Amino acid sequence: MKEHACHPSCASHANGAHDGRETSSSPSRSSTHPPSPPTAAAHAAAAVTDPSGRRRFLKSLGASSLASASAAWLPGAQAQTQTQTQTPNEAAAASASAGVAADGEPLTLSVNGQRRTLRVAPNAILLDVLRDQLQLTGTKKGCDHGQCGACTVHVNGVAINSCLSLALMHDGDAVTTIEGLARGDTLHPVQAAFWEHDAYQCGYCTSGQIMSAVAVLADKRIGRDDASVREAMSGNICRCGAYRNILAAIQDARSRMGG
Ligand code: FES
Ligand code: FES
Repeated sequence: MKEHACHPSCASHANGAHDGRETSSSPSRSSTHPPSPPTAAAHAAAAVTDPSGRRRFLKSLGASSLASASAAWLPGAQAQTQTQTQTPNEAAAASASAGVAADGEPLTLSVNGQRRTLRVAPNAILLDVLRDQLQLTGTKKGCDHGQCGACTVHVNGVAINSCLSLALMHDGDAVTTIEGLARGDTLHPVQAAFWEHDAYQCGYCTSGQIMSAVAVLADKRIGRDDASVREAMSGNICRCGAYRNILAAIQDARSRMGG
């Protein structure tokens, strides 16, 4: 186990980013209904009709990015999202997964409330199974080494780095991915807050940030102050440096959720 000097409630611990452990937290599901975000089409239309200003252009790009993630939260759009985000390495992993799927080990998961039965290679990684076999591509592969948090999902209510976890270890478990947070067309309060606070640029880290944030807000051991939230989220890296807005979004979501 690697040594890590941060606070025990650090999300990196919770995510297993530092030592592969899974600590308990129970992400809440708020019934708060945030304002509906504008659609990607609305943003695109706004960009066309009002092309002035780099800020609007960037926001339009951000809207497209989050809309892609939002689209991934809708089952009908998952295959398209996969096509858009798959890298050559991921494609190779997908081929490998497909090759062993027919004669792999049986695995049953509850994924976003749906029972899924499949066959996986004994060494299949949970992240790859989610992305390549279940087409849940909202969960991203960043470092693939437990360092960036892009792959964060909840297993039985605990935030983990899915790139570090063998799929077969989770037989019978309940997995929640970013696609499982929204309720129909209503975003989870953390999703809505990320949207409204512009808490992303490229959006690659966003699903992992949101999944960790949901877990952090549900973990009563973690302080409510900004410093505690920053530390708890330290296992999630944003290469675009959107940390200030991410923090603002999390704290806003806390108040939306009555926390
Ligand atoms: S921590 Fe899993 S992809 Fe980076
Ligand atoms: S928004 Fe680009 S990596 Fe975080």
